This record gives sequence, C-alpha cells and structure tokens, in this order.
Amino acid sequence: MTKILITGALGQIGSELSTALTKVYGPENVIITDIHDTNTSDLPLHYEKLDVNNEKAIQEIIEKHQINDVYHLAAMLSATAEKFPVKGWELNTHSLLYFLELARNKKIQKLFWPSSIAVFGRGAQKENTPQEDVKNPLTMYGIAKSAGEGFCEIYHKNYGVDVRSIRYPGLISWKTQPGGGTTDYAVDIYYKALEQGKYTGFLNAKSRLPMMYMDDAVRATIELMQAPAENILVRTAYNLQAISFNPEEIAYEIKKHIPNFQIDYQPDYRQQIADNWPYSTNDIQAREQWNWKEEFNLESMTIEMLNNLKNKLKLTNS
Ligand code: NAD
Ligand code: SER
Repeated sequence: MTKILITGALGQIGSELSTALTKVYGPENVIITDIHDTNTSDLPLHYEKLDVNNEKAIQEIIEKHQINDVYHLAAMLSATAEKFPVKGWELNTHSLLYFLELARNKKIQKLFWPSSIAVFGRGAQKENTPQEDVKNPLTMYGIAKSAGEGFCEIYHKNYGVDVRSIRYPGLISWKTQPGGGTTDYAVDIYYKALEQGKYTGFLNAKSRLPMMYMDDAVRATIELMQAPAENILVRTAYNLQAISFNPEEIAYEIKKHIPNFQIDYQPDYRQQIADNWPYSTNDIQAREQWNWKEEFNLESMTIEMLNNLKNKLKLTNS
C-alpha cells in the first residue's frame, strides 16, 4: 500500500488534496505535515509538525513512516516572496532539493512538486503560452519555480527520479483561504461579495490571468501522479489551462447572482507581478499525455463558490 506524506498540508491546496488522497489511499496511509503547532484532535488525519527547511527532520519523518510518495506543497507564494526574497528563495528551492535527494537515494519512490504560471515572464507569448516557451520570470517566486523545474528535469534525466509537476494557474476555492498570492483576489472577491456587497481589487479591471477551480486542480494532481510513468514526457512541469478571466469579468459573473455587487480598483505592487504572467497557457501535452480535461468554467465555478461560501459563512457566523 502506498504511504503518502504531504508538506504544507494546512494550506489552500494541501487542505483539500489531503482529503482527496485519503479517499484514494485510506486515512491510515496519509501523513499530513505543516510548520504550525496544531491541536491534532481538530484534524481528521495524522498530523505532524514539519519545517521543510530542516533536512534532518524531513529524513526522520520519511523513515519513521516508511513513506513512498511525497506531495511537497510547502512554499512561499508570489506576493509574499517579493517581500522576503531570501527566505522565499531558500524555502522554495532548498526544500525541493532535499526531497529530490531522498528520491535519488531511493528513500521515496515518487515526488509531486507544484510549479506555477509564474515561470513565464519577459518575452513569453501572453495568449496560449506554449509549454516550451521562454522562461524569463520577473519575480523571486517565478525564478525559484523556474529553477525548481530545472532541478526536477535534471534529477529525472540524470538519476531516474520519478518527479512530476504542474504549473498551476491561480487556484480558486472556498474551504481554505489562499496565502500570499497574486491571484488571491479571485477568492476574496466572493467572500466580500457575500459579506459586504462590494470589493476593492488590487489588480486593474483588465488583468486577465489563467485560473482554475480547486476541484479540477486536485483531480489533475492525483491523475498526474497515477498516470503510467512512460506517459509523463514533460519532467519540468505541465502547463494546465482551465479558465481565464479578468476582475471585470468575474465581477460581471457575480452580479448575475448578487445584482447590487459593486467593484472598484486600487492596483498595488501585485499589479506588476500579474502584468508579467500569461493570459492563458497551451496545455496540449497534458491533454494528450495523461488526458487532462477541466470540468469547471467561470459560470459553474461561481455558482459553486457562492453556494458553498454562503453555507460556510452562515455556519461561521451562527
Ligand atoms: P499556501 O500558502 O496556502 O500553503 C502553503 C503551506 O506551507 C502553509 O500551510 C504554510 O504554513 C506551509 N509552510 C510555510 N513554510 C513552511 C515550512 N518552512 N515548513 C513547512 N510548511 C511550511 O499555498 P498553496 O496555495 O496551498 O500552494 C501550495 C503549492 O502550490 C506551492 O508550491 C505554491 O507555490 C503552488 N501553487 C499554488 C497556486 C495557488 O493559486 N494556490 C498556484 C500555483 C502554484
Ligand atoms: N496563485 C499563485 C500566486 O499568485 C501563482 O503561483 O502566487
């Protein structure tokens, strides 16, 4: 039976991916970790504190639980990494190398590590950005993700490591709030629409970016990890396209359900980050090699987000 370890498991993706992996592999086979001291009785799964900057602690936990597969999600996202460039670089690159080394030494079998649309920057095609387009990222986060993709490719080619990766677009979810990203506005806007009927965006009205509903991202991650190794021909990270929209378009969609919803715009330092990212990416390799296909568009995602958040906020406020 596959024994799984997830890092950064209390974050936006980890909190949902861990539940999904439990359904596939059983709760006794999924160990979730994060840097926080947490009251473990609040969590449905086996939780241990793990700082992924600590290589020795990583080795110990892998050995203790006889882990086969790792989903290494702990990271510092784009907006925060611009504020703490050295810490961002160290966390986003060193910890990946620790896990790649463990895989090289056959202590783990398979590694999932997420990259991002942030690997693209200067000179890349903005619309339908090809898989192999030029990577000239203009953020610390993108530079670290681009380096990480290079590590993954080299460890696969030179040492036979089975590492798999996706360039996630901005992820939209209602269960756990995102932490420190440039695409976070596309989650916050739903909360503010329900709670206050208005939202002030930190990107301008026309900032179009690739986005994806969390259910699609979680399913894609598990499908990629379960695909036969010979199908995985991209060992940097796969482009994965689902939806692209700008703040004006998501606001228009929300207005269909909350007609009095108002949006205004006060772009801040995150505008510059968004300006260098693609509008949409070309993901033909993922579709052809392991049958990736999104299920949610802006319309269906908005219905899901508003319905689920309405219930969540009712529960929180009661
Ligand atoms: P998140 O910020 O919500 O969660 C990251 C988690 O890592 C947090 O729970 C945090 O406590 C934990 N963490 C931070 N430092 C740590 C450390 N030293 N040791 C252990 N844990 C630590 O991030 P997320 O959105 O869930 O992203 C997960 C991964 O997916 C990251 O690699 C991120 O770059 C990537 N990604 C996310 C998105 C998105 O839109 N959410 C898009 C592209 C890529
Ligand atoms: N959603 C992420 C961010 O904004 C992209 O990697 O940082």
